[in-house]
Amino acid sequence: MTTDCWRLDSFAQTLVLAATDARLPEVVYWGAPLPRATDLAPIARAHAMDRTGGMLDANAPLSICPEADRSFPGQPGLSLRDADGRVLRPRLRLVEVEAARDRLVVHCADADLGLRYAARFEIDPDTHVLGLSAEIESDAPVIIDWLAAPVLPGPQLSDEMIDMAGRWIGEFRPQRTPWSSGIRLRESRTGRSGHEHFPGLIVPGRGTTDTRGEAWAFHYGWSGGHRMVAEELPDGRRQIQFGHASATELAPVTRAATAQLLASYSRAGLNGCAIAFQRHIRDRVVTWPDPDRPRPVHYNCWEAIYFDHDVEDLKAIADRAAALGAERFVLDDGWFGRRDDDTSSLGDWWIDDRKYPDGLGPLIEHVHGLNMTFGIWFEPEMINADSDTHRAHPDWAMGPRDQIEGRQQLVLDMTREEVRDYLFDRIGAVLRDHPIDYIKWDHNRLLPYPDAEQTRGIYDLLDRLRAAHPMVEIESCASGGGRIDAGILSRTQRVWLSDSNDAVERLRMQHEAALFLPAAITGSHVGPRRAHTSGRVHDIRFRAWVAAQRHMGFEMDPRELTEEEAQVLTRVTAWWKNNRDWTMRADIHRLDSADGAVIAEAQMAPDGGRFVVFAGYAESAAQILPRPLRLTGLDPEASYRVALVNPEDLGVLSRGPLALKDGALDLPGGYLMSHGLHLPSAFPDTMWVLEGTRL
Ligand code: DGJ
Repeated sequence: MTTDCWRLDSFAQTLVLAATDARLPEVVYWGAPLPRATDLAPIARAHAMDRTGGMLDANAPLSICPEADRSFPGQPGLSLRDADGRVLRPRLRLVEVEAARDRLVVHCADADLGLRYAARFEIDPDTHVLGLSAEIESDAPVIIDWLAAPVLPGPQLSDEMIDMAGRWIGEFRPQRTPWSSGIRLRESRTGRSGHEHFPGLIVPGRGTTDTRGEAWAFHYGWSGGHRMVAEELPDGRRQIQFGHASATELAPVTRAATAQLLASYSRAGLNGCAIAFQRHIRDRVVTWPDPDRPRPVHYNCWEAIYFDHDVEDLKAIADRAAALGAERFVLDDGWFGRRDDDTSSLGDWWIDDRKYPDGLGPLIEHVHGLNMTFGIWFEPEMINADSDTHRAHPDWAMGPRDQIEGRQQLVLDMTREEVRDYLFDRIGAVLRDHPIDYIKWDHNRLLPYPDAEQTRGIYDLLDRLRAAHPMVEIESCASGGGRIDAGILSRTQRVWLSDSNDAVERLRMQHEAALFLPAAITGSHVGPRRAHTSGRVHDIRFRAWVAAQRHMGFEMDPRELTEEEAQVLTRVTAWWKNNRDWTMRADIHRLDSADGAVIAEAQMAPDGGRFVVFAGYAESAAQILPRPLRLTGLDPEASYRVALVNPEDLGVLSRGPLALKDGALDLPGGYLMSHGLHLPSAFPDTMWVLEGTRL
């Protein structure tokens, strides 16, 4: 018996692969860093488990692609049929491993079936994220029912899994499910990643919190719907598989590949994985047209005017938005075709000359005159039956004619080249004819059926447009957060987290999304005084500070603001602009809040020299005195000067001699992390903002 071993390392994790007798390798270790000099052979040997009565004579390996024909007692990593539908059971043999410092490529083959399988493992030494993908090639066309990215073992000292559910105006709702014998299956069959199916998983070690303990986390970078299998085998071992939603390669193929599965291990609580993902998405996945350009404050007109476009109104709105501090004006839905409501015109991407008799030029010039750039809304993949484009090309719509529509719209068949060419030309013409630096790219219904080729078509269109217009930034919006994943983020620079601008909802969603997403790409807008999606009224202070936690923008009609509200918003926006050079590059540490009413985070500058804490009261506290808020990620030996940024928000509830109310406090990092800070009493819907500087 011969065993070969390989390892990948970052400063905070080691992964070891071992292959015995030229069979598919297994991940025999994934956890805390192992010493560089470690002899890996004993690690591989020690990985073998005992067996007892009532079992097979050997434990079937939990390899990077568990094989159906090896008596593996769980889900295989690959399910194939030949073009006639007969089940194939590949017996893959290891051919070669290409090993570099930060990369392993495992090549396997089944010569009898004419199949080749390759698994790629990459580790980013700086962001400390693993990227895993698998690829299959076949001499003859095969039907791919399931292809998993390289399979990782599920940790044993873990009691539960955290994944995300959600819905329109209620995205990023974590669910905790206990491990138990059998499968936890998450599968998005909606043709997009979806509000309900963010493609991520976190496996916390026993007792792990945001700031302490072990965690293993995953994020599958595909926008066409993913499948996750987290399985506890009958023998107690656990495996984690991610891939495209099953059977979404609709035709036999000779080549198929998974998207990249991002994975990270942490000994610093959930935050260790969250920060690795935040950095990786921001610095590796997203490509910025101009990385040095500060994130501009957005103004988006959707909730101000909906479809009611009037140039003079829009100019007046732009004037107010600019005075408040906006730097980019985004013209939302309603500027094209005859789009007076959401029943018509998707697909007719030419300017509505009833609303814009002189074209978009006068509005854009006005916006530019206010020192704002101009962005515009498209929903390229969709078409209304009531549109000239659909009347001319009824065959361009995907799915049967009697399908259930969504928002009265159909989906364009993006697998067709002429459809992509049409969209490339129409969108390209608008971008060519106008100085536009931003597209809000919407996607307001799920697909009639999932099809991986459709997703590749969308990616192709985005890639062509980006190549032709490299300075244009794109926002991924899908009725809010219906398409957020590392696949779309490799082609866009911002996500619209939710259609809910309700500040309490947003506070909660932003907090959960930070497990995967950085601040710089997470759009957050100050909505109308009465939130359009909840009917709730929130004070401008709270709305403004919640938006200031992420990539800030406004979305109300600014003419509704009172003088006082405008002053507050101007002040908070100025604070955001003064700090964005470092906050938009900061790590978001979620804080273990002792008070269930408080949702809190610290944004820490990369060099650890400064931080800002946001502590938001999402409801009224159960006890009368606020519980101290423990910070994290500080140097216990260093001292920090901590000050309340918004003492003007102190209200009638705060009557005591709280030190923070008298000015800055110098406190040791160890104290701030062990004892925590006493915050002022506050009404629900209050945000305390604290700045800290290392002395
Ligand atoms: C859904 C988006 O999420 C909204 O922000 C807005 O752009 C509308 N679509 C426009 O139809």
